[in-house]
Amino acid sequence: MTSIILYCRPGFEKECGAEIQEKAAWNEIFGYLQLTKNEGLVYFHLNNPKDGEVLMETIPLRRLIFARDWFVTVTDKIELPDYNRVEAITEVLGTEWQYADLRMEMLDTNEGKELSKFCRKLSVPLRQALRKNKILMEKGDNEGAILHGLFLSGKEAIFGFSLAHNSSVYTMGIPRLKFPSASPSRSTLKLDEAFLHFVPRDEWDERLTSGLKAVDLGAAPGGWTYQLVRRGMMVTAIDNGAMAESLMDTGQVKHRMMDGFKYVPMKQNVHWLVCDMIEKPQRVAKLMAEWLLKGYCKEAIFNLKLPMKGRFQEVTNDLQILKDAFSEHKVKYELYAKHLYYDREEITVHARLLSPPPMKEE
Ligand SMILES: C[S@@+](CC[C@H](N)C(=O)[O-])C[C@H]1O[C@@H](n2cnc3c(N)ncnc32)[C@H](O)[C@@H]1O
Repeated sequence: MTSIILYCRPGFEKECGAEIQEKAAWNEIFGYLQLTKNEGLVYFHLNNPKDGEVLMETIPLRRLIFARDWFVTVTDKIELPDYNRVEAITEVLGTEWQYADLRMEMLDTNEGKELSKFCRKLSVPLRQALRKNKILMEKGDNEGAILHGLFLSGKEAIFGFSLAHNSSVYTMGIPRLKFPSASPSRSTLKLDEAFLHFVPRDEWDERLTSGLKAVDLGAAPGGWTYQLVRRGMMVTAIDNGAMAESLMDTGQVKHRMMDGFKYVPMKQNVHWLVCDMIEKPQRVAKLMAEWLLKGYCKEAIFNLKLPMKGRFQEVTNDLQILKDAFSEHKVKYELYAKHLYYDREEITVHARLLSPPPMKEE
């Protein structure tokens, strides 16, 4: 059986499954889901095995909100022997396909974490054997397919591949970011990850550079503002709550104690609008569309807080608000959403217009 295996945040398997099933159906690819709550893993078993590769080529991973990473299976679940595991894996993989890299993966659960030592130990001899058998190409051959080994336990594994240009650059889609001790809150990692995810590195000099103006709605105590300040930006922080003194001391932050829904920037020179207000997601979506369409900012990154139930539908409706607003004004836009690793009960969205804002300031 050929399946697509998707990694997501434990607890979000239903949303991740619903999303892949919907997107696959749009491409006339059908199958059924298998998932276990809180495993952070979704199996999408395909009716037609040939669809595995087609799906990986037609659906961009960055269009999936809840999947952190994915691969298409090339083996069923294989039993690993107590000895000669490397030989057993090499034999099952055969020599038909070559891969550019190997990723050793396990579940994002406590049981999964216990396997990481086992995987690290196995990884070195496995790589050597795969290279010797020309299953793994020499370092530097970065194009092509990535081999994924998902270890469900020390005795069971599944192997598969993803396409390097359409998979996460991080193992299981998890960037391990260091918490900066100078930041006033852990939320800082969300915006750090969002910039990494949504803005290509080679555009940082233009889009994430010092001197740009930013507005942070719902800024206190300042974890997101910290990310903007550390990149040299000048920030207007909107929140009735207190901002960390250390940020105010930089001279780069103006704090306005007011409602984020009422604040309007004086000049049209804001590059980044970021927003982490705990508010109804539909209200936030409308506000973000308004800022972009009125030309108050060039780009926006914001969180949409998710309800306990009907989360996939909520996200679909929220994004539709933005799409409808942009279409109504006939603007070209870029809109991506992701349930990032450092997000919890929320998703992060990036939006920007690719044509000039159409609305006049009132
Ligand atoms: C999750 S916290 C923000 C954390 C912040 N991003 C950080 O990294 O430190 C949400 C903040 O939104 C603020 N907030 C909620 N509704 C707001 C509103 N209507 N206007 C301004 N701030 C609001 C709250 O006061 C709270 O400080």
